[in-house]
Amino acid sequence: MSNKPENLTLITDDGLRLDGRRADEIRPMKIEVGVLSRADGSCYLEWGRNKILVGVFGPREAHPRRSQRADSAVIRYRYNMASFSVEDRARPGPSRRSIEISKVSREAFEPVIMAELFPKTAIDIFVEVLQADAGTRTAAINASSIALADAGIPMKGLITSCAFGKVDGKIVLDLNKEEDNYGEADFPVAMTQDGEITLIQMDGNLTPDEIKQGLELVKKGCKEILEIQQAVLRKKFETPVEEVSEEA
Ligand code: CDP
Repeated sequence: MSNKPENLTLITDDGLRLDGRRADEIRPMKIEVGVLSRADGSCYLEWGRNKILVGVFGPREAHPRRSQRADSAVIRYRYNMASFSVEDRARPGPSRRSIEISKVSREAFEPVIMAELFPKTAIDIFVEVLQADAGTRTAAINASSIALADAGIPMKGLITSCAFGKVDGKIVLDLNKEEDNYGEADFPVAMTQDGEITLIQMDGNLTPDEIKQGLELVKKGCKEILEIQQAVLRKKFETPVEEVSEEA
């Protein structure tokens, strides 16, 4: 969030944003499942100009052994930005930001992953941001949810994530880069299929009423994303009825 150039208008009088969206619209999303042959589950996701690749490995024996838990799997989430993913080169290796995003994203999944079924193992979620355009943590969570399902990790449901923010004084869904740079607030959220919130963060200032309004938008956005996630997974896993009857 930086100072906006005086003549820059992010929302027109007609209520349209720079990329043509209305306040309550998410950016177009494109998803491919099972793109990595060496991973147990994987997903490639484009959301607006974000490009994210996720590989899931496990459950597999956790190393080092002292990291094992006798009563459950340990879930590890590593968010990484490719050095070429942003305008100014991102310095390779972990940063305060990537460590924070990895932690809150892991915690967003802990309520749904049935880790207790796999004691002493690790479930690794590796996120590579190939191209960043604001909202990479939410995009990565949406992709990770699909990669986990692709790996066959038992979950109580999918996790879906979307941000809202404040731009030119208006509450809008799913900020793009210009809105993130010059907007007044950014508020990423992740939730279960039942609408239980598992991640909530805030950058900037918002009134309680604005947060209420934004959370309504996020609920709408997450519902749309969940439908996209479910459709992609159904396409991958549903066996056509004809094939079943032919084999029988
Ligand atoms: O990506 P997300 O919105 O989850 O996190 P952020 O910390 O709010 O970053 C917003 C955006 O700033 C990223 O999506 C990138 O486009 C950009 N960024 C950057 O250009 N260089 C960095 N080192 C980190 C972020």
